[in-house]
Amino acid sequence: MKITYYGHSCFGVEIKGKHLLFDPFISQNELAASIDVNAVPADYILVSHGHFDHIADCIAIAQRTGATVVCSWEISVWLNKNGVEKTHPMNTGGKWLFDFGKVKCVAAQHSSSLPDGTYGGNPMGFIIESEEGNFYYAGDTALTMEMKLIGEYRQIDFAFLPIGDNFTMGVDNAILASEFINCTKIIGMHYDTFGYIKINHAEAIEKFNMTGKQLILPIIGETIHKP
Ligand code: NI
Ligand code: MN
Repeated sequence: MKITYYGHSCFGVEIKGKHLLFDPFISQNELAASIDVNAVPADYILVSHGHFDHIADCIAIAQRTGATVVCSWEISVWLNKNGVEKTHPMNTGGKWLFDFGKVKCVAAQHSSSLPDGTYGGNPMGFIIESEEGNFYYAGDTALTMEMKLIGEYRQIDFAFLPIGDNFTMGVDNAILASEFINCTKIIGMHYDTFGYIKINHAEAIEKFNMTGKQLILPIIGETIHKP
């Protein structure tokens, strides 16, 4: 399993030769200026919620690659109306077996409207189960007790958690979330992109270390192996 960071909450994950792309927000992200959005591979695009900083490049990448977009029912309908044919609508609590593995949609405590104001349904997180490992992609969320269910549901090898605070949980709550999901390897996301969510990297890493956990902050454009 290989993981590529495209900035903000956007990651590519390669499983069994399939490219999963989470929350594409590249062309409007100044910090991701080094990424060529037209070269980002995708067989599946998973969209956690409708906010622009998670969906801005979804339509263009879906049209270029022919990827299937996995998202809420409401976002699926909106994408269909906006020129994306291949969508797989889901909702919280549901799971589906794809050719790379299983996707289970879990609760995220946030909001979800699309860039034109259309209601986006409930925001979601995703648990991915595959032969190459299991992980949790939290999307934008607060710390919630629901996360304890994730720890009970499956062995989570690593997790993508938001750490930027203000719009989502910050570092301290992400450490608690790691405990709730019973996982010690965390890849940080949703930080630094905007003024409200700038964080001190060294301090965040140290706080995770103090509790016996690892916070991984890949550089934008960097590809790492499954932690
Ligand atoms: Ni959001
Ligand atoms: Mn966001």
